[in-house]
Amino acid sequence: MGCGGTTLFYPLLITLSVALITYNIIISSNTPLKQGFPSSSSSSSSIIDPVIELPRGGSRIRGNNERKRRLFHTAVTASDSVYNTWQCRVMYYWFKKIRASAGPGSEMGGFTRILHNGKPDQYMDEIPTFVAQPLPPGTDQGYVVLNRPWAFVQWLQQADIKEDYILMSEPDHLIVKPIPNLAKDGYGAAFPFFYIEPKKYEKVLRKYYPEERGPVTDIDPIGNSPVIVGKEALKKIAPTWMNVSLAMKKDPEADKAFGWVLEMYAYAVSSALHGVSNILHKDFMIQPPWDTEVGDKYIIHYTYGCDYDMKGKLTYGKVGEWRFDKRSYDSTPPPRNLTMPPPGVSQSVVTLVKMVNEATANIPNWGE
Ligand SMILES: *[C@@H]1O[C@H](CO)[C@@H](O)[C@H](O)[C@H]1NC(C)=O
Ligand SMILES: *[C@@H]1O[C@H](CO)[C@@H](O)[C@H](O)[C@H]1NC(C)=O
Repeated sequence: MGCGGTTLFYPLLITLSVALITYNIIISSNTPLKQGFPSSSSSSSSIIDPVIELPRGGSRIRGNNERKRRLFHTAVTASDSVYNTWQCRVMYYWFKKIRASAGPGSEMGGFTRILHNGKPDQYMDEIPTFVAQPLPPGTDQGYVVLNRPWAFVQWLQQADIKEDYILMSEPDHLIVKPIPNLAKDGYGAAFPFFYIEPKKYEKVLRKYYPEERGPVTDIDPIGNSPVIVGKEALKKIAPTWMNVSLAMKKDPEADKAFGWVLEMYAYAVSSALHGVSNILHKDFMIQPPWDTEVGDKYIIHYTYGCDYDMKGKLTYGKVGEWRFDKRSYDSTPPPRNLTMPPPGVSQSVVTLVKMVNEATANIPNWGE
């Protein structure tokens, strides 16, 4: 799935907007309930029938047996770098395997890699891919993740997405267990990050989430990923997320306060601005080496390097005699059959390396 250049984009956008407005008029005339935004002070959510709250009348279109099945589409933004690409290949291998293992009742729907380099790469046939345009040169001020919100905006406007919900995932996520649709009653579902602290940065955040909107605690301690959220809600949040990211990046105070997690704060603020609160799921994912057991979690996020001595002791901050760090593979993919960690290393890290090895052993043309 590709897309035209920017010359096509604006006429297309206008067409789509008109179509969407028409569609909204049609559905609002026979849909008594709004599309499921909670007011942040909502206390009545427990008495709302979740089936009626399904956006876009899904329960009427599908058969009775399927009325509770709320499919979500998994989307990963990536560049065409070697580094992002091998991670996406491994990620998609596990997505497919886990979805297949989940059986027909699973809520895991389709998958898209949103490639934000503006042109197709050689993995279009291996991984379902949507090509998005990068931000105009210079806009990201060297902070490439600002391409993420813009990529989501384009994908949501241009792609034909069948599912009513979106899981925003990342290339360094490995799905270990079938993920149910954790979003509920108009709430998103998100992983809480300990280092996202809206209360601590209240002064800066008030520029973007003014007092009259509500308490600063309306801003959840989350980033955009992993998050499962209604597609219609995300269509509203994403353009704001892009605007807020760019505005924060231009604001020296915000840029200094938030650093490399700026775009996470921007998502959290934008979600709050649109009245979308999130159910916080600590069990959404684990982050080795800090989390030592996979347990019943859904995703392994391998963002941290795993360094150990040969006795299996963590030597974090110091290159270990044994190590697995995604950053070691920024210009070539990891080879097949990585050496397993020494005895004593935690189960989460062992599982991670086994999973990478299984994927690279089975993906055709690995490392060629
Ligand atoms: C984004 O920012 C521009 C310029 O500040 C503004 O005109 C536009 O309405 C904003 N859009 C959204 C969705 O916030
Ligand atoms: C993987 O490497 C180990 C040694 O680390 C070796 O014993 C094993 O045979 C290799 N497996 C494959 C499939 O190449």
